[in-house]
Amino acid sequence: MVRRSVVTGYGSYLPERVLTNDELASRVDTSDEWIVERTGIRQRHVAGEGELTSHLAAHAARRAFDQAGIGADAIDMVLVATSTPNETFPATATIVQSELGMRHGLAFDMQAVCAGFVFALATADNFIKAGQVDRALVIGAETFTRILDWSDRSTCVLFGDGAGAVVLQGSDGEGTVEDRGVLSSHLYSDGYYHDMLYVDGGPSSTGQVGHLRMAGREVFKHAVVKMAEATDAALVANGLEADDVDWFVPHQANRRIIDATSKKLGLADDKVVITVDRHANTSAASIPLALAEAAGDGRIQRGQLVLIEALGGGLAWGSALIRW
Ligand code: UT7
Repeated sequence: MVRRSVVTGYGSYLPERVLTNDELASRVDTSDEWIVERTGIRQRHVAGEGELTSHLAAHAARRAFDQAGIGADAIDMVLVATSTPNETFPATATIVQSELGMRHGLAFDMQAVCAGFVFALATADNFIKAGQVDRALVIGAETFTRILDWSDRSTCVLFGDGAGAVVLQGSDGEGTVEDRGVLSSHLYSDGYYHDMLYVDGGPSSTGQVGHLRMAGREVFKHAVVKMAEATDAALVANGLEADDVDWFVPHQANRRIIDATSKKLGLADDKVVITVDRHANTSAASIPLALAEAAGDGRIQRGQLVLIEALGGGLAWGSALIRW
């Protein structure tokens, strides 16, 4: 028998306020045409005043609980992937735990920026496979609009706020690729590039939060190459081909990166889940938001093969294959 982590629930939350490209163009020197052509983004959601990362996360979590038919009492571990925590410490996961009325189990944050959800999913999966926990709540939640420099058109048009969550449940199976659950995960980092995408502040450097800075063109090049390598690694590890993939759910940073990666994989457009047009880049929240959308509208069906991948600051990147 092989223990796997099966997705038994999913949920997401987007703040009410929508900021369109045209509205942005009235504030900075940009245009809807440029943003759509270079990124595929048409709008993004922005958290309201007083609406914090933990609030977005808890909303998504409650929806995932409803969908799984469980309550917070059934959860052993809460993992929040975020680069926009409520506070420098404690972990936002502990605040979410409190918002969910949980006083048991363990809760901590995962910091791998846009790859955060893949890292968190892999971590929870390993805790479950090791037998240390039975049910984990894995959340990606961000309020990236709070760390943007709204005078920098090269970055402020790219990001949005949101949260997505999945419930993972330990389950024993035959150990084949037909078993439901996370089949494998593949994580990578290369800190040589730590200053390619970063926030220019922090407790130990400036004592201030700082703003997001990115060498966009360079990150773009790394993203296409490294995510293709990560997705190949996932297929090879499981003896599967790109044709076996039912749904490709990539990190939603830029439509052109998604198109280039799926083309390299040889995947048809209708197998690719796209939310970047409406959500923009929500960093660690983008994959669970996309999973919740595609599972919620009936595209992703139980038993189907789902490939996820992401790259972000660090650089940190990775992939995972999930039998839904
Ligand atoms: O999720 C984490 C990982 N992040 C990413 O994956 C993002 C990766 N990078 C990208 O998505 C793209 O590189 C960007 C969308 C950030 C930029 O697209 P690009 O095609 O690489 O454009 P560029 O940076 O080469 O800029 C092209 C031109 C420049 O003008 P010049 O120098 O050619 O005259 C920029 O100044 O576009 C200009 N530009 C803009 N123009 C209008 C940059 N931002 C804007 C803007 N509106 N918002």
